[in-house]
Amino acid sequence: MDSKGSSQKGSLLLLLLLVSNLLLCKSVASLPICPSGAVNCQVSLRDLFDRAVILSHYIHNLSSEMFNEFDKRYAQGRGFITKAINSCHTSSLSTPEDKEQAQQVHHEVLLSMILGVLRSWNDPLYHLVTEVRGMQEAPDAILSRAIEIEEQNKRLLEGMEKIVGQVHPGVKENEVYSVWSGLPSLQMADEDTRLFAFYNLLHCLRRDSHKIDSYLKLLKCRIIYDSNC
Ligand SMILES: *[C@@H]1O[C@H](CO)[C@@H](O)[C@H](O)[C@H]1NC(C)=O
Repeated sequence: MDSKGSSQKGSLLLLLLLVSNLLLCKSVASLPICPSGAVNCQVSLRDLFDRAVILSHYIHNLSSEMFNEFDKRYAQGRGFITKAINSCHTSSLSTPEDKEQAQQVHHEVLLSMILGVLRSWNDPLYHLVTEVRGMQEAPDAILSRAIEIEEQNKRLLEGMEKIVGQVHPGVKENEVYSVWSGLPSLQMADEDTRLFAFYNLLHCLRRDSHKIDSYLKLLKCRIIYDSNC
């Protein structure tokens, strides 16, 4: 192709990118902005679910990568994996272990479990960020993901509150969550103990973010597509 042709092709591509960006901006911008007190300014349940599923998938991806990064840097040869069994602060919420179990749970219950798990992570995620920041040579591959997960977890929680508001309007929901008391263990002087505490927390985060992601996909299928998916 001559250079003129390829530069035209280039500008066409640029234009396409611009247009798609504009469309994206528009759809993103039009979502959360409702004048206060506005009626008929509600995001559809389908859009809320679409956004929640994208977010939960993203959070799970970040959590897995953060865990892998930590494992690679700090956990090699320490045998942490054998110790990290079923000791997450969210275990008391008794969430379904897999998709089959989750299928048996009524969607109201599943929704409030999701809220419970997300709320239970607010506090530990906040402390995770501060503690990682304080680490010697805080590894950016871990810190940047911790910051992003903390932020996105809050957004997902807000989105889930909107979903619950539409699926069960008027229901006074109970704000159940598990209290995390793991901060002292993240601050232990003994390196092995401290690193294990981080390892365990990141392991739990990866597990819980996976659960939330799969519950949400299941709920979206049930509620939006009447289980035809
Ligand atoms: C996270 O997402 C990126 C981009 O899609 C992908 O390349 C990467 O493999 C994912 N990581 C994990 C651990 O799934």
